[in-house]
Amino acid sequence: MKRFDGKVAMVTGGASGLGEQTAKEFAKEGAKVVIFDKDVENGKRVETENENIIYIEGDVRNSDSVKKGIAEIFEKYGTVDYLVNSAGILQDGMIHRLSEERWDNVIDTNLKGCFLCMQECVKRWIDANKADPKEKTADYPDKRVISISSQAAEGNIGQVNYSASKAGLIGMTKTAAMELIRYNVKVHCVMPTLIETPILGELLSKDDGKWRKYYSGRIPLGIGVEKYVSDAILFLCSQESWYMNGVILPINGGRLGPV
Ligand SMILES: NC(=O)c1ccc[n+]([C@@H]2O[C@H](COP(=O)([O-])OP(=O)(O)OC[C@H]3O[C@@H](n4cnc5c(N)ncnc54)[C@H](O)[C@@H]3O)[C@@H](O)[C@H]2O)c1
Repeated sequence: MKRFDGKVAMVTGGASGLGEQTAKEFAKEGAKVVIFDKDVENGKRVETENENIIYIEGDVRNSDSVKKGIAEIFEKYGTVDYLVNSAGILQDGMIHRLSEERWDNVIDTNLKGCFLCMQECVKRWIDANKADPKEKTADYPDKRVISISSQAAEGNIGQVNYSASKAGLIGMTKTAAMELIRYNVKVHCVMPTLIETPILGELLSKDDGKWRKYYSGRIPLGIGVEKYVSDAILFLCSQESWYMNGVILPINGGRLGPV
């Protein structure tokens, strides 16, 4: 018996990086996994390379796209047990130079996108609970929402849009955790430090590795790998964390405070 046998996980941004790793770990541990991502090429690659992962093309910024994708998942698998919000982008810039467009892109993807996906799942979970009332909260099906915030939520030069989106996720998580526990939906977020994934682009290789050296020196346990984050996410979806709600979990490589 595997840890997530019979469960269904939806991972936004699952075509790359932290979402891809999380999707793979869920699949290894028995879950049926749906990755929801706008990157068709990588989405199809992940689907082809992994048993028990299917890809649905979609854009978390767009409510019609989210509604369509989530309806398809519920139709195929009956429910979603774990929603992991990993879709995210960086479009950095100092405050005085940041365009409104870059502000909107980041807020819409990283913050509104998580809200839209959560809302579509939550509506269905509440309807299902109402159709089958229980005496105790704990008797309702156990659902989890995990969003990927960032240590940048605490501030990071050049990332006013990103930092605001990730701090927004913390407020959203706490509020959702308070609102939704009556339906046995637990809501958490993780706050990773720098993890080596495609979102970083050239950052770690440019300038003769100057930035790799810099960040390696700033993070006591070194620049992170994807599994450090997926392990924490799977824990927050597991039976072992059943009694927890509204956890804001730093994955900080040993460093407290901004990198
Ligand atoms: N890598 C890090 O250092 C780090 C640190 C803290 C937080 N995070 C957060 O973790 C999450 C995952 O980042 P990653 O490092 O895996 O990046 P990544 O670029 O490897 O993956 C992000 C995925 O999100 C998808 N995506 C982007 N916009 C989308 C949209 N509108 N609709 C659907 N899919 C969309 C991309 O296609 C991509 O597959 C992001 O929210 C990021 O902000 C990353």
